[in-house]
Amino acid sequence: MIIFYRSCDSIRWFISSYKKDGISYILDYGAGKLRNSIYLSELGFKVYACDITDQINKIRSLKKSEELYCTIDEKFLVNYRLAFDLIISNYVLNIIKKDYARKEYIRNTYLNLKRSGYLLVEVRKRTKNTPDRCVTAYYQQELDDMILSERFKKVDELSFSKSIVGVYRKDGPLFIAYKKI
Ligand SMILES: C[S@@+](CC[C@H](N)C(=O)[O-])C[C@H]1O[C@@H](n2cnc3c(N)ncnc32)[C@H](O)[C@@H]1O
Repeated sequence: MIIFYRSCDSIRWFISSYKKDGISYILDYGAGKLRNSIYLSELGFKVYACDITDQINKIRSLKKSEELYCTIDEKFLVNYRLAFDLIISNYVLNIIKKDYARKEYIRNTYLNLKRSGYLLVEVRKRTKNTPDRCVTAYYQQELDDMILSERFKKVDELSFSKSIVGVYRKDGPLFIAYKKI
């Protein structure tokens, strides 16, 4: 099989490490230009690509989107309970500026994973040269704190030169409501 799309290194690492765990349905949450979605579709996974309205409309106009199992406009995801085996989030949390919006995004991952489903999050890495007030890059501990504020447990991590990756599993029911502040 020829794979045309160069996915993130974190995705190839995760699939080679965890594919034995019965992963079939995957949500690419913030799919962008589909580099990870198409890669995973061509490996035989059932991939749902989700993005904000403007981007999902662009995605739907692409011929390659026919390879996807489904596309979802992000604004509707909050209404769904789709029980994915895996949700991937590559370079999305570091571009969501508002705290409540990041929380809402993480809550949506929780609500749409099956019990014990995996969440893979990759964000830009914070280094000692990153300005303190910069919210677009994270230390591993900052990423973990953000994700583990929901009912996830951490199972793995990985560090690249420009990004960090956390792998988490859904752990228990969710009874938390957020309000905008
Ligand atoms: C930097 S791109 C990364 C795209 C892709 N994950 C990748 O690694 O190539 C970030 C993507 O997240 C999307 N995005 C931003 N906020 C989002 C949200 N709240 N829900 C879903 N997608 C979002 C953007 O539209 C954009 O396509």
